[in-house]
Amino acid sequence: MNQRRTRLYEGKAKILYEGPEPGTVIVHFKDDATAFNAQKKEVIDGKGVINNRICEFIFTKLNDLGIPTHFIKRLNMREQLVHAVDIIPLEVIVRNVAAGTLSTRLGIEEGTPLPRTLIEFCYKKDELGDPLVSEEHIMAFDWARPQELDDMMTMAIRINDFMSGLFMGIGIKLVDFKLEFGRQYEGDMVRTVLADEISPDSCRLWDIETDEKMDKDRFRRDLGGLVEAYQEVARRLGIMNGNEPVERSKPVLVKSD
Ligand code: CDP
Repeated sequence: MNQRRTRLYEGKAKILYEGPEPGTVIVHFKDDATAFNAQKKEVIDGKGVINNRICEFIFTKLNDLGIPTHFIKRLNMREQLVHAVDIIPLEVIVRNVAAGTLSTRLGIEEGTPLPRTLIEFCYKKDELGDPLVSEEHIMAFDWARPQELDDMMTMAIRINDFMSGLFMGIGIKLVDFKLEFGRQYEGDMVRTVLADEISPDSCRLWDIETDEKMDKDRFRRDLGGLVEAYQEVARRLGIMNGNEPVERSKPVLVKSD
């Protein structure tokens, strides 16, 4: 039976519910896809189930490597239990290859390998379209403490090293990705932990051989085949075999012959 739960927050792709114990939260992955600051919206059957699994896989590996994340455990097809955190109002973007806003902003052709990994910060403010900001702004407006900024940069580099290798090993190029961090309170102590999600919604993943996109750009750019691409990422990671049905919310028509 479904227990009545307290909804804490509903975002574009996830809903947060109060967890079973103090200091815990349940993250529910929806099938909603949004882009361009939610001007483009669609429900893509099965996306939430795959993202929940991919995120579980990556966060578990990061926890094992000693990179603290909010992730505790996966609860079911669409939900995971996480530590409650206060989200630091910054998006940390890590880039290995030029794409997206970096390409449009600086006129660098998509697919150009960058001379070094770039880390960018955007201020999390939907009304403003999450503008790019500098460390100066972050310090001046106290969006993060100097120690937190240091923690985020160090973790971002370690996460990039781990994930680049992980994806390289399964024939996928990690072009760029977005991270969000939170403050986890433990008694009088506070520590910076990786929060939110890592999934093909928040990364650019290109097939190494063909440069085919296996991420949310399939939706942003109307390329189609999003669930199939996400499923292929999961299959290569060894976490879902390609034939496993994703939990669809609508009946699927089958041929009767
Ligand atoms: O994705 P878009 O072109 O709007 O922006 P970007 O700055 O080029 O995005 C860099 C990476 O961060 C991509 O992998 C995006 O999917 C991800 N991102 C995200 O997950 N959420 C955002 N609000 C912005 C970027």
